[in-house]
Order: sequence, then structure tokens, then C-alpha cells
Amino acid sequence: MSPMSSAVATDTVAFQRRRDACLSMMAALQARREEASVGGNEKARRLHKSRGQMLPRERITALLDPGSPFLEIGQLTAADLYEGVPPGATIITGVGQVCGRACMLIVNDPTVKGGTMFGMTTKRHVRAQLFAWQHRLPCITMVQSGGAFLPDLENIFPDEGQGGSVMYNQVKMSSEGIAQIALVFGPSTAGGAYIPALCDEVVIIRNRGAMFLGSPQLVFAATGEVVDIEPLGGAEMHSRVSGVTDHLAEDDAHALQITRRIVAHLGAPPGLRWTPAAAEPPKYDPQELAGLVRIGEQPGADGREIIARMVDGSRFQEFKQLHGETLLCGFARIEGFEVGILANNGELTAQAGAKGAHFVELCCQRDIPLLFLVDSPGFADSDLPDQRGLGRHGAKLFNAVANADVPKFTLITGHAYGAACYAMCGRAFKPSALLMWPNARAAAARDAADDVAGALNWARHLWCDMVIAPAETRAVLAQLLDMAGRTPAKPTAFAVFRM
Ligand code: COA
Repeated sequence: MSPMSSAVATDTVAFQRRRDACLSMMAALQARREEASVGGNEKARRLHKSRGQMLPRERITALLDPGSPFLEIGQLTAADLYEGVPPGATIITGVGQVCGRACMLIVNDPTVKGGTMFGMTTKRHVRAQLFAWQHRLPCITMVQSGGAFLPDLENIFPDEGQGGSVMYNQVKMSSEGIAQIALVFGPSTAGGAYIPALCDEVVIIRNRGAMFLGSPQLVFAATGEVVDIEPLGGAEMHSRVSGVTDHLAEDDAHALQITRRIVAHLGAPPGLRWTPAAAEPPKYDPQELAGLVRIGEQPGADGREIIARMVDGSRFQEFKQLHGETLLCGFARIEGFEVGILANNGELTAQAGAKGAHFVELCCQRDIPLLFLVDSPGFADSDLPDQRGLGRHGAKLFNAVANADVPKFTLITGHAYGAACYAMCGRAFKPSALLMWPNARAAAARDAADDVAGALNWARHLWCDMVIAPAETRAVLAQLLDMAGRTPAKPTAFAVFRM
């Protein structure tokens, strides 16, 4: 197949203006990411280090295979939502390689509010678990948490998707043979104690780690009794007497070494169910994507120009090129992995709906993962004569997308307005991951306020998993495809198609 051709001129004022606007959005994104990476304030970090402990991101680096990437999910969760809490919501979640095996890491940050859990902390924890469950990834939970952040209990305790779901998901995953491992680094109270207690294997650190349902402060407040940490829930007591923990480590580094050995004994890592081709860079530079994206309400480039800068060799085998032209469908490879791409190129029409459903069905039959590239103002006006049957054909697309049981990835490259946000595999349609570029906007309607529709707001509420720069897209998708390819294939059963 020959490469696509491009009509883009990179030396025009329009291209350069768009690129500058996109680059400044990426710089703003980078600043928020760095804020999230630092964690608690300097005083809290110094106090933590003075106790001889590693910072949470140092723990992650020490656990992962040297040089292997860490794909963080929900990094900007709760940005600006809680006073004194940097983006991330007191927890770090993401996937990295341990002894050659992809694992989900769920890590409390004790330098922020004692690692206590806010409502959004539990939401991020649950999202990480659901991602791990879907990909059958062992979960490694690094615990050092004061439990619930008490003033936010109503967002932590009562509902599904909150603290109770964290525990439910742990035991359900364990029952399916998805390993649950915990390390207890410091005092861990209430929820912070239940979480490791519900794991398959637990490592605790001598003279540092502790697990109790009520802290010594709580015991004193309730009974007036002064108790020390060790007899109440210390590492020695749990390792020798209660048996809640399985491995007694001397310090953080030792606990992480023990954990690597636990992972090394989980059996052989799962193999890939697909055979990727040799990876090949696109013929057109992915850096040029910054000059092609939609900024604000100005249109972006033709969808084929975006695809040409994302796929191997800029080769795209288009399906039904002459029909339903506002939805591009076709096969391509990303870092060697085959994908079926559905990319908006205008509003969704009746023809586009039927074409999309047909294409999704093809991919399901062939076990090819789906990539949705979303940039659409929504569905066309169904009163137009050539849009009769839009409801029927649009419904076909909803049915196909919802039921397709191949891995699905959604990237909002521009706009996702109204029902386009659903039909193009928005959050409610359960893509394996939902990504946004920094310029992306998504909302029920085009006139939503900027700060509601913007990518940062979506990331803050965890309505998307990651905001990534256009030039990072291939690397992120390759990691996601590799993970998805290590799960068993499933047959798809569609609902009744309305013909
Ligand atoms: N709810 C709300 N805030 C809490 C909290 C809780 N359960 N536990 C700790 N915090 C806050 C502290 O007020 C402090 O806030 P600040 O940064 O605004 O000053 C911050 O977390 C750090 O706490 P601090 O005690 O100074 O730090 P530490 O590292 O010495 O100890 C803990 C951390 C978690 C071990 C200790 O604070 C503790 O035991 N807390 C009580 C835990 C508890 O009983 N939880 C029951 C939940 S149901």
C-alpha cells in the first residue's frame, strides 16, 4: 500500500499560528504535570525524607524495570478542586513493567494531607482498578494513608465507585486470579488498613509500616487510653502475631525488592494475541500535528492529514471512501499494531452512521482493535432530505460501538459535541482508555463555557484518562495496544440492528 499524500504547507501563517497556539497549550499542560509530579509542599517532603523514607515517585522508579516507561492514568485528577492538594488527588496510578510484566501501580502520596483519601482519590483508585481488571494487570498498591479525609466522607463512603468499590474490586479481581499485592510503608488507618488486608500478599516495613482501623489518636479520643503504634498495629505484631502481613522488610528499598520477587513468581507473563509488523515511523512528521489541530472553533485540517501523521508509513487502507465521507474508516498500523480507525471528518450523517457500524463489525470479526479519532460537532440535521433515517443509522453506530468486544481507544483530537461524544465511544461506551489532546473540547453542546468543555476540566474530573500532546500519541497508543493484546480475545454479540 502506498503512503497517503499530504496537501499541508507548513510555512503558511495559518499553520504557524495554529502550531503556536497548540504549543502554548502543551506548555500549560506540562506545567500542571510537573506540579502533580512534585507532590506535597517542601516542608512535607522534607519531613517525609527525614523519616528515612522514599518519596512516592522514587518508590515507583525503584520498583519498575530500569528505564521502562510509566503510563500515568488520571495524573491531573482533582486539579484545583481541593485546597492545598496538587493535581493527582493524593494518589498516583499508572502502569509500568515489573520483571518484564505490566502491572498497575496505585500509590498513596503521604506528603499531601497524610495520604488521606478524598472523593476524587477513591474515584481515581477505582478507575485504575477497572483498567487493571480489563487488562488483567496485577495490582501493586503502595499504602501510606491516614484513611478517609474526614470532611469529605460523603464523597468517599456511601456510593458505588467510591471507597467501598475499591475493596469490592480487590477481592473480585483476586477471585479471577488477578494478583493483588500491597506494601505498607507507614501508618495506614481505616481504609488505608483494609486495602492491604484484602490483598493476596502484603509486605510491611519494620518500625515504619502500621495498620489499624483506628489510629492511636483515635483510640485516645474514644477511650482516653494511650497506646503505641507497635502493639496496636505495627509491622512486627502483624508479621508475628496477627498474620495480616506476609513479608517483613527493613526499609523502603528492601520492601520494593521483595515486591519484585513476588511479581517474578506470578508465573509467565501473558503473550500477545496479535502479531505486530515491524514498526515504522509515519512518512509525515508527527510534530506537524500541532499545526493541524482545531483551535477553538476554527476548523482543523482534513482528518486524513491527522491520520497521515499518526500511522506507520502514513499508510491507511480506507474503507468506503466514497460513501459517508464525514466519517473516515480504514485500517492502519501504529508501531506495528494493526488498528481499525474511525475518524470524524465533519458532522455525523445517516450514511456515516451505517458505514461506521459496518466497519466496526468488520473489525470485530477480525479481532482488530478500534481507534476512534473524535472531532465532530455532532449529528447532522435529521430534517434534511438526504438525512432521513439518521435516527435508525445513528442507532446502528451506537449499537456496534457499545457491543464491539475488541479493545477500543478513544482520542478526542478536536471537538466532541453532543451525541458524537457517545457514538464515537465516549466514556459511557467504555473505551479501554479515553485520551484528549490539550486543544480538545467536549460537551453536550458547542456553546458550553471554555473551562467546562476544556481538556483540563475533563482530566480534573477524570472524565478522560490522560491529556497527551499530539506528538506523544503513537508511543502512548503503542503501550495501550501492547497491554490490550495480552488479554484473551472475546466474541462480540451485537444487539438487534434496526435496518
Ligand atoms: N482527615 C483529614 N485530614 C487529615 C487526616 C484525616 N483523617 N489525617 C491527617 N490529616 C491531615 C492533617 O490535618 C495534616 O493537614 P495539613 O497538611 O493541612 O496540616 C496532614 O493531613 C498531615 O498530617 P500530619 O499528622 O501532620 O502528618 P504525619 O505525616 O505526621 O501523620 C498520619 C500522618 C496520617 C499518620 C496522621 O495524621 C494520622 O494518624 N491521622 C489520623 C488518621 C485517622 O485517624 N484516620 C481515620 C480515618 S476514618
